[in-house]
Amino acid sequence: ELSEETVRIVKSTVPVLAERGEDITTCFYQQMFADYPELKNLFNQTNQKAGRQPKALANAVYAAAQHIDDLSAIMPTVMQISEKHRSLNVKPEHYPIVGEYLLLAIKEVLGDAATDDIIEAWGEAYGVIANAFIEVEKQKYKAAAS
Ligand code: HEM
Repeated sequence: ELSEETVRIVKSTVPVLAERGEDITTCFYQQMFADYPELKNLFNQTNQKAGRQPKALANAVYAAAQHIDDLSAIMPTVMQISEKHRSLNVKPEHYPIVGEYLLLAIKEVLGDAATDDIIEAWGEAYGVIANAFIEVEKQKYKAAAS
């Protein structure tokens, strides 16, 4: 359960991050693929180059963050994205990696504006969003296996 303060920080920083959204996600992919080259196989490199995937991920994260205190509002979107994830075999253990590099990218792009409070709040919010995806995907994998 996120504190009111965390929710407040996350919601109030969404516009700032959205403005730098593509810088953040481009930086995120570059660093993540440098450290985990095996993840490149998961992602469609054509979409990467065209800049479509960075945009899609950024938009999804900010949409989720805006509804961080009522994720039920975005569950239809989560379900839809999860279908794509499921078809590509995205696994629960991938989420902390993505979270780590997303936070790193936010820090790098925002610089001094990324205070510890902001980074901590986004870390918690990402955890909540990731859990929603992991739960939905777990159900899908279970259904596919039976
Ligand atoms: C695709 C969001 C976590 C791997 C997508 C798309 C969105 C998205 C919006 C595009 C869906 C579409 O084209 O229909 C998110 C969010 C995440 C997350 C919000 C975290 C909460 C992850 C993780 C992985 C992953 C942990 C695995 C490392 C992929 C791949 C695609 C994808 C491989 C397809 C990319 C392509 O077409 O090139 N994701 N995702 N995602 N996601 Fe995620």
